[in-house]
Amino acid sequence: MVVTRTASPAAALDLDQLARTAVRVLIENWHGHATVPSRRLYPHQWSWDSAFIALGQQYITPQRAAVELLSLFGAQWADGRIPHIAFNPAVPDHAYFPGPSFWRSSQLPGHPPIDTSGIIQPPVHAIAAHAVMDRLGANGRDFAARAYPALVAQNSYIRERRGVKGLAAVVHPWETGLDNSPAWDEPLHAVPADLSLFESYTRRDIDHARASERPTDEDYARYIRLALSYRDHGYDDDWMRSRSEFVVVDPGFNALWAWSELALAEIARALGRNPDGHQREAERITTELVDQLWSTESEIFLARDKRSGRLLGERTVAGLIPLLLPKLPQGVRDALCATLTGPSFGAGQLGIRGVPSFDLTDRRYNPRRYWRGPTWLNTTWLVAEGLRAHGADALAHRLRDDMVALVANAGLREYFNPRTGSGHGTSNFSWSAALLLHVLAEVLPQAETG
Ligand code: DGY
Repeated sequence: MVVTRTASPAAALDLDQLARTAVRVLIENWHGHATVPSRRLYPHQWSWDSAFIALGQQYITPQRAAVELLSLFGAQWADGRIPHIAFNPAVPDHAYFPGPSFWRSSQLPGHPPIDTSGIIQPPVHAIAAHAVMDRLGANGRDFAARAYPALVAQNSYIRERRGVKGLAAVVHPWETGLDNSPAWDEPLHAVPADLSLFESYTRRDIDHARASERPTDEDYARYIRLALSYRDHGYDDDWMRSRSEFVVVDPGFNALWAWSELALAEIARALGRNPDGHQREAERITTELVDQLWSTESEIFLARDKRSGRLLGERTVAGLIPLLLPKLPQGVRDALCATLTGPSFGAGQLGIRGVPSFDLTDRRYNPRRYWRGPTWLNTTWLVAEGLRAHGADALAHRLRDDMVALVANAGLREYFNPRTGSGHGTSNFSWSAALLLHVLAEVLPQAETG
């Protein structure tokens, strides 16, 4: 059956066909126990990617989604951190940079059984685990019993090893997931860009995507320097929190941490445990976010540079993600919705698709360069979920329609020009496929069978 829906003014869409394409991409990118974000650009298992991917895989089979998450938890360190990459031993070291020989995780005491990176990514895994638990039905409890301790340890690591005044700090731009966000320009540009590092190291990403759509060499040199410094200090978070050249408190990361506590409360309840601690933790983080990162002037959450103590003025999609939190004060929520639909992001406006990753009115806005302007499906979906949590169903619906229309127009690309809808970055991108299936599942029950 061809299901039509007026998601795009230009065309009625064949949603069945879109769902089939998304399933095919997830199957092709599966390598036996986990899914690569894309076969050439990102040929291993990435942490927050896997969580978004599991949200889509649950419609292929929920068992596969469970394996995806459990295999990532198998790469968890003894200190509770879930590393941002779990390396596939079957993939040669030179296929991706920085690979296992760069991070050297196997040289550490208490290292996991496989090679990993040493940094983390936003903790969205409990949200995925909660969805997968529900979908597994009678088997959900067994899965939850295995996932819960890993997820609790992940959040304990964040609180205890990354805590700064009640919120969590990140020590590398990659940890925010929004690698080259303009919000990082000021703190990152204070880090020396030593281009001679490229005499020893070779970027692999620009073999597989256009350089003009990826971070610059200068920023990459800074990423390498920060990662080397973390590695060479034995991944010691006390040293990093006080001495690293980059320490920021990001509203997106912290909001997802709080949201994950709400999902943990649900998982705890299903396991017959007391959920109150998780609930209280979510409320505590929400209060700290509002006290420390809300900007009444800019009407958005801003990141704080821990080294200077200053709020960073850039308005990025990360500052909208706290919409996910149900206990946000009403004034903050209303102002945030006004910012989302106003000139900086234009959500729901004619000619804008999804939620741009960066302020449309800023002179640095670039609709094609990674996190400096393009619309991404994961952050658009998170904002849509936030709108839903606050009863703004019409705009949430419109954002989900935008996700479908973007893919219908440009394919399962990594990111999209918010104005023209053109696709950029890599193709056959797993979380675009997964989140497409997740939003289609609401209107297309047959997507569940693949
Ligand atoms: C990349 O390789 O660009 C990733 O975002 C870093 O993990």
